[in-house]
Amino acid sequence: MATSRVPTPVSVPVQKPAIPQLFALRPLPPNVELVPLTHELLPAYKRLNALTLPVAYPESFYKETMTEPYLGITLVALWHSAPSQGSGATLPAEPPRLVGAVRCRLLPSSQLYISTIGILAPYRSHGIAMHLLQAVVRKAVELHSVKSVVAHVWEANDEGLEWYKKRNFEVLGKEDSYYRKLKPQGAFLVKKLIGVGDLLGSFAAEEKTTNDIAT
Ligand SMILES: CC(C)(COP(=O)(O)OP(=O)(O)OC[C@H]1O[C@@H](n2cnc3c(N)ncnc32)[C@H](O)[C@@H]1OP(=O)(O)O)[C@@H](O)C(=O)NCCC(=O)NCCS
Repeated sequence: MATSRVPTPVSVPVQKPAIPQLFALRPLPPNVELVPLTHELLPAYKRLNALTLPVAYPESFYKETMTEPYLGITLVALWHSAPSQGSGATLPAEPPRLVGAVRCRLLPSSQLYISTIGILAPYRSHGIAMHLLQAVVRKAVELHSVKSVVAHVWEANDEGLEWYKKRNFEVLGKEDSYYRKLKPQGAFLVKKLIGVGDLLGSFAAEEKTTNDIAT
C-alpha cells in the first residue's frame, strides 16, 4: 500500500459522472474521477479493501456487489496520472489507478448502509471519501429514496470514527461482538439522517456541509 512518495494531484481534467452534487465541497483534484464499479475494476477494488479494511470479505460479497441493487450504490475513485517525460519524448500516461471506493446496501426503513469505504493511504485528505459518500448518497436518494445513512465502525478504528463524527454522524451505540474475527470485537453504529434541504439542490458554501445530511 505505501509508496515511496506522496502523490500530488496533477492537472488532468477528466469527465465527471452525471451525478448531481448533494452539497458543496472543496472540489476534487481535477485528475480524480468517480465511476461505477466494473468487472474490469473488481480486482483493484478487492486489493483496496484488503489494504484499507481489517475484515477479509468472501467471494460471495464481491459476487453480490456486482449485482443490483448493490452495484448501483457502489462507486470507485480513479486517480489519473499526467503523461511523463522520457528521454526527450512524452510517454503515454499510466492507466488510472483505483484509489478509493464506497460500497453500500439497503436496509429496511429506507436506510443506506455503508458496507465498505476506503481510500489508499497515500491518496487520503484530498476529499475523495467525502465526495464518494456524497455521490453515493445522492444516487441512493434518487434510486431508492433513502432517508438515512448508517455504518459500523470497528472500535479500534479511531480515525474512521472521527471521520464520521466530523461529518455529523451520530454514534447510536456499541455492539460488543460485531466483528467476531477481530480483537477487540466491538463496533460503533453511526447514523446520519438525510435532510429535506439536501433534496432541493446544492448549497453554496462548504461550511454548510455540516447540514448536508441533517441530524
Ligand atoms: C476514513 C477514510 C475513508 C477517509 O478518507 P479520505 O479520502 O482521507 O477522507 P477526506 O479526504 O474526505 O477527509 C479527510 C480530511 O481531508 C480534508 N479534506 C477534504 N477535502 C480536501 C481537499 N480537497 N483538500 C485537502 N483536504 C481535504 C477533510 O477536511 C478531512 O479532514 P477532517 O476529517 O479533519 O475534516 C480513510 O482514512 C480510510 O480509508 N481509512 C481506512 C478505512 C476506514 O477507516 N474506513 C471507514 C470506517 S469503515
